[in-house]
Amino acid sequence: MSQNNPIFWFAPLHGITYHYMRNVLFSHVVFFDQAIAPFVPAHKSDKLNVKKWVDLDPENNPFIPIIPQLMGNDPDAIVDTILAIQSQFGYNQINWNIGCPMNQIVRKQRGCGVMPHPELIENVVNRVTQKTKISFSIKMRLGLNSPREGVEIIKRLNQYPLDFLVIHPRLGIQQYEGEVDLDSFETMILNSNQKIVYSGDINNLNIFQSLQKRFPQIQNWMLGRGVLRDPFLVEELKMGIPLNDEQKLIRFKSYYYELQQSLFQLKSEQDALPKLKELWKYFAQFFQLTEKELLSILRINHIQEFKEVTDIAFTKYLNDLKTR
Ligand SMILES: Cc1cc2nc3c(=O)[nH]c(=O)nc-3n(C[C@H](O)[C@H](O)[C@H](O)COP(=O)(O)O)c2cc1C
Repeated sequence: MSQNNPIFWFAPLHGITYHYMRNVLFSHVVFFDQAIAPFVPAHKSDKLNVKKWVDLDPENNPFIPIIPQLMGNDPDAIVDTILAIQSQFGYNQINWNIGCPMNQIVRKQRGCGVMPHPELIENVVNRVTQKTKISFSIKMRLGLNSPREGVEIIKRLNQYPLDFLVIHPRLGIQQYEGEVDLDSFETMILNSNQKIVYSGDINNLNIFQSLQKRFPQIQNWMLGRGVLRDPFLVEELKMGIPLNDEQKLIRFKSYYYELQQSLFQLKSEQDALPKLKELWKYFAQFFQLTEKELLSILRINHIQEFKEVTDIAFTKYLNDLKTR
């Protein structure tokens, strides 16, 4: 049953997948059902100014429902932030990030830095359950240093009525290196009574189908970097067939120019350049650029030149496709 009706989530990617990007994506690609917004920090009420979190404003999210995500480790700050977001924007779901592996976050015992401390996690969940009516969910990894951490947390969480758990099957110390550890993921889900969302390295149809085969009990799949590289991936996964490359390129072009425009509306064109470069690190794969070609794009410092060179990349790729 779950195999035939997968539910697709768009992953939070801090620095990238904000409303101005999500909206362009969702207007060009159907089949996403849910999204989690990149994290915002939890604060006690005297330090909160939730109005400034325009990314969470439902008016800025007309396409599909998003779930706000919090980063923090103080139960009071997390409760205060949940209540403030709920009252400002009306959300009834909030996600807590205990998976972020960035050193400066882990060092402060936030993100994945809380995973070696199951009692802290239980405190937060306990307090949120007692003090709010929010549907609370968690996005986590296998652990920071060992998959034993994740299993311990999962067992403790079984007694709480969580909305769902998103699991990225790597350790925090791995950052994004190495293979996903599906055996440890399996151990975690076998120990859990929660709804599980799988997140990690779903980069093409083959990978997705083999994950579906191995985990028939999973219905919810989260896509992140794979969609940055190829925005139409979700359509291929949903329909179970690869799309035609030439048609994809035509659609990609219109997606890309709209995305570029959306970034230019936020800042001056020149100031949008770093964000565009960040995206091209992912697009390089779509265009099958060599490392040298990508580096030469990333070295450009003037937006006009950047636009010209990236236009050439489109034309070159289209010609390559035609001569294949
Ligand atoms: C640049 C970057 C930023 C990320 N930001 C967040 C974030 O704000 N919150 C979060 O829970 N996960 C974050 N993640 C993790 C992703 O949501 C996702 O779980 C991970 O990239 C694995 O999925 P993928 O292989 O489909 O990208 C981030 C990952 C990357 C690479």
